[in-house]
Amino acid sequence: MPRTRKQRARPKQTKKRVKKPAADGGIQRIKPELFKKLNDLSPFELKNRLIKLAEGKKPSQMLNAGRGNPNFFNSFARKVFASLQNTCVDASTRFEKDLVLYPNVNDHDYEKVFNSAIRSWPRDQRDFFRNYMQFLKNAARSTKQSPNAILHDLLLSTLGTFYPSPPQIQPHLNLVARDFMYDLVLNRDAAAGADMAGMKMKRDDFEYFATEGAAAGILYVFNSLKANRLLKTGDHIALITPIFSPYLEMPVLKDPDGYGLKIVELKADPDRDYALPDSEIAKLKNKRIKALFMVNPHNPGAYSLSKANIMAIGDIVNTERQDLIVLSDNVYAPFAPKYYSFMMSCPRNTIEVYSLSKYFGTTGWRLGICMVAKENRITKMIQNLPAKDQKALALRYDTVSINPKKLSFMERLVDDSRQVAMGHVAGLSTPQQALIGLFFYYQLSDRTHQYQDEIRNELKRRITTMYTELKTDPDITPEATNYYSMLNIPQIAENLYGKEAREHIVSNYEYLEFLFHLARVYHVVLLPGSGFGSSAWYIRVSLANLTNEDYRTIGIALRNCIADFAGKHK
Ligand SMILES: Cc1ncc(COP(=O)(O)O)c(C=O)c1O
Repeated sequence: MPRTRKQRARPKQTKKRVKKPAADGGIQRIKPELFKKLNDLSPFELKNRLIKLAEGKKPSQMLNAGRGNPNFFNSFARKVFASLQNTCVDASTRFEKDLVLYPNVNDHDYEKVFNSAIRSWPRDQRDFFRNYMQFLKNAARSTKQSPNAILHDLLLSTLGTFYPSPPQIQPHLNLVARDFMYDLVLNRDAAAGADMAGMKMKRDDFEYFATEGAAAGILYVFNSLKANRLLKTGDHIALITPIFSPYLEMPVLKDPDGYGLKIVELKADPDRDYALPDSEIAKLKNKRIKALFMVNPHNPGAYSLSKANIMAIGDIVNTERQDLIVLSDNVYAPFAPKYYSFMMSCPRNTIEVYSLSKYFGTTGWRLGICMVAKENRITKMIQNLPAKDQKALALRYDTVSINPKKLSFMERLVDDSRQVAMGHVAGLSTPQQALIGLFFYYQLSDRTHQYQDEIRNELKRRITTMYTELKTDPDITPEATNYYSMLNIPQIAENLYGKEAREHIVSNYEYLEFLFHLARVYHVVLLPGSGFGSSAWYIRVSLANLTNEDYRTIGIALRNCIADFAGKHK
């Protein structure tokens, strides 16, 4: 076949096009106007651009360590849940074909029903479930509830044949959540000592609301604080930064649908494992600040706040700032061997928001839980609002209560999650709640902590593998989650190539140019720390979503990328 001119010309053209690598490794510069726009993007939006660049023509070449979605998950509780689904369907009365009547509470002895059905289950699942039933029965008795009713609740919740009832949390889940959450935020470390107010509180002093992940929990809290006039347009809230970027982006959204809040940053010190200096903590004494929101342990910094920080803030909240609302997002708590919560130091002002997404690998399931003390100051603050506000709030809630003023913060939170009018059909889907119960009991019954140790060891392995390629020691402490790491690029450049390299990079380039180059040339996606409120040149890597070998590749890519920027390109 005769060749076209174009085809014939191709080899020549290709030869001509081959360029020697530029002395700088081909770094593309970003114009200042574009830099400004990109700099304003949420890191999660910027990520989409970086992914496109990193995929290039071959998507499989990309390593995306930008997002925190873990690549591990808990298998056992899922298997029990699948077995339980079948068992619960079989325990119901069948018509001729697929139509089934679910049983009423007094129809059966549910322990017998379950015990006979689980005979066909694999042994490990059967043992686990027997223990779970025993746990639920004991907890039911100790809270003066009928054990049979609790097992019936587990059955109906698993089937999903009834609205969440009560909408706040299913009764059986409540019994597991109170142990799991208490152990997570209050019973973690004997060394925490009885010197903190929360350590004197009992499991039953708290209540829970099951939500569609922590994201929903956080939103419900924001909305309820706004609806109940504790956060008004123009109010100030404090954030411990750097922080998961939605906390920076959401409060400042303007009315009518937003919050119009002003942010005061309490800047954690990256050189001290993200501890807060006293001068930052002192900002909370300013009465203009109505609430303090934080992620503890930190995201993107991956350390728990120190006991000293927790106590210092607790001291302020329990004395001169009893009106300060504290929201603590503890998604990463199970990853840190040492963790101090605000529930320890100022339990009456604190709302804890937990997500199962990371530790159990359930991001697609949307599983989370909110925890508050039954006797909390937030309820009191609402009840002490000026008469004008009380009047308006009475109108908001008069369809759900004959005495709206008496509604607790938790009752409002649940009703507000469905704009009050749909409060009676609020709540997380009951099969999701049944699954949460299994995950929580899995953790409570894993006395050897093997699952937890495996996750923690794997994250440690990954972070060590990556930093080894960077001739830098990862700062692994008992407070570290190792779920993320903030790469201090100038410091790593100095460790690899000396002080001059560090200075060359920061005085000649922008951090975004580094991230784009890393994506375009080395196919690695990481996120800028600046979008989380950190200083430029800190870059967030998630250690949770790729394999150990991938983190070696990322370490090498980072080293080569730094070489390009330091002018050490070979
Ligand atoms: C600090 C923090 N809070 C909340 C979330 C969202 O949790 P969920 O998946 O339960 O909505 C994330 C997810 O990355 C997170 O990092």
